[in-house]
Amino acid sequence: MRARRKKHGAQRLDACREKGIVIDSKNELPVGFLPAEIEIGCGKGDFIIEMAKRHPERNYIAFEKKDDIALEAAERLDREGLTNVRVMVADAGELETLFAPGDLINLYTNFPDPWAKTRYIKRRLTNRSFLEIYKRLLPVGGCVFFKTDNRILFDYSLSEFRACGYRLENVTNDLHASDFAAENIVTEYETLFSQKGFKINRLEAYIDEKTLETYPPMKWTYTEDEAADKTPEDEADGNNKDNDG
Ligand SMILES: C[S@@+](CC[C@H](N)C(=O)[O-])C[C@H]1O[C@@H](n2cnc3c(N)ncnc32)[C@H](O)[C@@H]1O
Repeated sequence: MRARRKKHGAQRLDACREKGIVIDSKNELPVGFLPAEIEIGCGKGDFIIEMAKRHPERNYIAFEKKDDIALEAAERLDREGLTNVRVMVADAGELETLFAPGDLINLYTNFPDPWAKTRYIKRRLTNRSFLEIYKRLLPVGGCVFFKTDNRILFDYSLSEFRACGYRLENVTNDLHASDFAAENIVTEYETLFSQKGFKINRLEAYIDEKTLETYPPMKWTYTEDEAADKTPEDEADGNNKDNDG
């Protein structure tokens, strides 16, 4: 991992590793830390830091694929002195190599990259391949909480969740005008998009016995062709100009 955009990024990330804030494997977690809640694509950590403060009795994994962004979350956690959060720098495609069924309770994904182009559709964190992974890791009664400003991604996601047998609840196309506004934790991207006038979409997708019965587990990974579809920016630093459409 490079953290190359930040001054001394790699060393700073290592310092957070030494303090046990950044971990590479669940084996580094304190006994009893799992099961935990996880946020995929935590960015700079706004959401998870506030969640951890509100719920000191729960434990959290802040999961982020870009090391320089994860570094910001980790250093903020260090400054705040929060002990119920750990940061993992990895791609969501690796979730099943890092966690086993029973390790996670609920999953949050806030403003994930829309990956607007059809050829990148499998990278959407609400593509059914990911929804199947979440189903294997979360327990019955577990929930995927999802927010986005992007209406096309939201409608697509609704249909993916339905196709995978999740039970949808508390779906809104205008979070900030809904009953959930009072409890809502506004993230960095949420502020950005709200200020531009976009309404925020939110849903809760639950796993119940029926979800698991109706839709048997399906294994999925990137094919070599799909992996090769990465842009030069992607190859260089995990970034991609096509992901913000
Ligand atoms: C648009 S930002 C949103 C950040 C934050 N959740 C917020 O609402 O402000 C999306 C974040 O998800 C991360 N991300 C995207 N795809 C990911 C993946 N497959 N695995 C882990 N993180 C991912 C990106 O690196 C980025 O930091």
